[in-house]
Amino acid sequence: MVGQIIGGNYGEILIRQKNGERIELGELLVADDILLQVVDLEYGSLMENRDLARMSGMQLEGYGATEIHEKEVRNFILVRAKPVFDLNKKGITKHLPEFFKILRRANAQDFDFLEKPENPMYLGKIRSGSKVLDVPVYLDGKKVLTHHILIPATTGRGKSNLVKVILWSLVNKDYAGILVLDAHNEYYSYKLNGKNYGLKEHPEAKGNVIYYSINPPLGERALKINIKLVRPWHLREIIEFTPAQEDALYLFYKEWGDEWIKMLFSNEPIKGVGETTRAVIQRKVKVALEIDMNDYGELYERGKIFSINEGESTIKDICTYLEEGKIVIVDTSSLSQNLEILISSMIMNEVFARYKRYKENGELDNKPVISVVIEEAPRVLGEGKSTIFGTIAREGRKFKIGIIAITQLSSVIPREILANLNTKIILGNEMSSERKAVISSAAQDLSKDDKMIASLDKGEAIVSSIFTKFAIPIQIERFEELVDKARKEKKPKTLKFFG
Ligand SMILES: Nc1ncnc2c1ncn2[C@@H]1O[C@H](COP(=O)(O)OP(=O)(O)OP(=O)(O)O)[C@@H](O)[C@H]1O
Ligand SMILES: [Mg+2]
Repeated sequence: MVGQIIGGNYGEILIRQKNGERIELGELLVADDILLQVVDLEYGSLMENRDLARMSGMQLEGYGATEIHEKEVRNFILVRAKPVFDLNKKGITKHLPEFFKILRRANAQDFDFLEKPENPMYLGKIRSGSKVLDVPVYLDGKKVLTHHILIPATTGRGKSNLVKVILWSLVNKDYAGILVLDAHNEYYSYKLNGKNYGLKEHPEAKGNVIYYSINPPLGERALKINIKLVRPWHLREIIEFTPAQEDALYLFYKEWGDEWIKMLFSNEPIKGVGETTRAVIQRKVKVALEIDMNDYGELYERGKIFSINEGESTIKDICTYLEEGKIVIVDTSSLSQNLEILISSMIMNEVFARYKRYKENGELDNKPVISVVIEEAPRVLGEGKSTIFGTIAREGRKFKIGIIAITQLSSVIPREILANLNTKIILGNEMSSERKAVISSAAQDLSKDDKMIASLDKGEAIVSSIFTKFAIPIQIERFEELVDKARKEKKPKTLKFFG
């Protein structure tokens, strides 16, 4: 026993901590088959404040400490806890545990009711305060990915680590294809203490994890995209055009199709577009795609991505890999933000178009869900942005397309979109305005969890989802440990010789 219920109400039960026990913020306790979570701690005393102050004064000012009679009875720690789950009914608690009930700490057996879903996606283990219980937490990947995931946290709390852990468990599953725009080149392969880490190290990475980079290591794919694949609506996501310029873009595309960018720079006149408008568009497109024209009037590439002659199948190839349930990591670390957004929107537009078609033809059921991991999500989901990502957040679920949005700033994502991101894996955050934005859009009532979220350490998280029965506190593993473990298991067994 760790304490006893001495009052409170449905939202907040008051518990007296037993002397010598140490109950933590976020800890899970059980009373009467009801799972409770500690939301606050304070001091309690049966003595008058004035007496306490006087006794402290005596001690501090050197008059000698006063012995308190039955100290452990008179002074105690008062624990505030909220009911989170009825272990007996396997549902939301609707009643209070018995008054004066003795509490115990939750243990692994209490969570026997958690089932391994059909398409398990591993997140971590159940955490009670800062103690980890040996209970793995899986969500149904297929469902969760189509209904979007938000990973909010301050910098350095373990967002990227969590995404790596999630992706690791998806490498050998074909129910999901994941596109990762890797702005820090930290997912595929990196070295730590002289050892190799990253998704490349997965025993089944070959053929399941695909890597594109503008500086590809030997044997990996080069990220080159032909300008023929660029459409006016892709450019709109990163360049501001006046309505007249926008009309002109569509006219070019209508007139010349795939060749529209090439023709834009030609002398070929087009009805309805003035010379000045054309010149402005030329300048903007040159900057955006990092292309230019030489003295002979020929286009050439200044940058490393957009190509005049190569890369005609890159976007298609990536979409096909995704459709086969693979993980595609695109190293965008040396690209400008605009180029990163442009490329991701080209890919996701193609994915969206394909899946829309599959749905119309009744073929969608056989396809894996496709999700895209995007860092600093407000860049594409923020107020006033009209991007393919917003469209996916709003209606992607009808087409089995989802987002994994990572952000330090949930508060600048419109509420309507936040509410659509149906699973939130909340890591630590010391900014109260950010906590508020996440709490107010969570699937469960987290109004009492503010302090808990503020105090979350690296890798500690709360999973609030329409697919979990309560907001589950978890401890996420360190990705490198996961890799080391897999390496150990993979080590070949010693051969036995007979005779
Ligand atoms: N679950 C965990 N257990 C132990 N250490 C962790 C855990 N998660 C992250 N770390 C460590 O914390 C550091 C920061 O982690 P990570 O890069 O994942 O944070 P982040 O939230 O993505 O930060 P940023 O905002 O800079 O992208 C890393 O050194 C990582 O190894
Ligand atoms: Mg990160």
